[in-house]
Amino acid sequence: MPCKLAAGNWKMNGLDADLDEVRALIAAHPSPDCGVLICPPATLLAPMANIARGSAILLGGQDCHSDANGAHTGDISAAMLADAGARHVILGHSERRADHAESSDLVAAKARAAHAAGLTAIICVGETEAERDAGTTLDVVLTQLRASLPGGATAANTVIAYEPVWAIGTGRTPTLEQIAEVHDALRANLPDPEMSLLYGGSVKPGNAAEIFALGNVDGALVGGASLKAVDFGGIIAAL
Ligand code: G3P
Repeated sequence: MPCKLAAGNWKMNGLDADLDEVRALIAAHPSPDCGVLICPPATLLAPMANIARGSAILLGGQDCHSDANGAHTGDISAAMLADAGARHVILGHSERRADHAESSDLVAAKARAAHAAGLTAIICVGETEAERDAGTTLDVVLTQLRASLPGGATAANTVIAYEPVWAIGTGRTPTLEQIAEVHDALRANLPDPEMSLLYGGSVKPGNAAEIFALGNVDGALVGGASLKAVDFGGIIAAL
C-alpha cells in the first residue's frame, strides 16, 4: 500500500508561541510511518522550517501568486515559499475560491507557477451543500478538477484534495460511501492515475482511520485538528 499523507492546513492561525505544537508533534512522532505535512501561515514557514529540519515533517504554503515575481503588493510567489522551506502549496482551497473569487483557470495558472518553482501543488475541489442537494456533486468536482489542473500535472508534482465545502469546519463529514463515490470518480478522471487523492473536511483522530481505509483515499487535508499536536498526532497515528 502506498504511503499516505497527513497534511495540516493551519489557515490564518498560528503565532510564534504555537510553534511549540510542532516541537511537541516531532517529539511524539519522531518517525511517522508515512508522510506528514504542515502548511502554516507564511509568517511561520521559515521558523517552522528551522524546527522541522532533520525531522520527517514537510512544510507547505497555503497559496501563491501565478506570476513568478513582480508588482503584486501583499502576494507571495511560489519561489518565496520554496525559499522559506516549503515543498508543497495548497491551491484553490474553497475559502480562497469564495473569499477571493479564485476561478479554476487561476488555480491552474498558480499550479503552473508552483511547478515551475519545484513545489508540489495540492489542488482543492469540492461541492457546496446546495450543489450536493441538487445532485450535481460529481459534475462540480470533475469540472473543477479538469479546469484546475495545468498541463504537465503528474503524480510527482500534484496532489488533489476533495473537500466538500459543507464539511469544512462544521464537524459534519460525508458518509464513507459519499467520500468513496467522489474519490472513485476523481481517480477515474486523473491525468495520472498515480496522483494522490486527499480527503478534507472535519477529519479528526476519531474518524481518520476509517477514512484512510477507503481504497482511493491517499491521506487527509486537515484544518482545525492540525493545530494541536495531540489532535494531529492522533491522525498521524491512524496513517
Ligand atoms: O484544508 C482543510 C480544511 O478546509 C478542512 O478543515 O477544519 O474541517 O478540518 P477542517
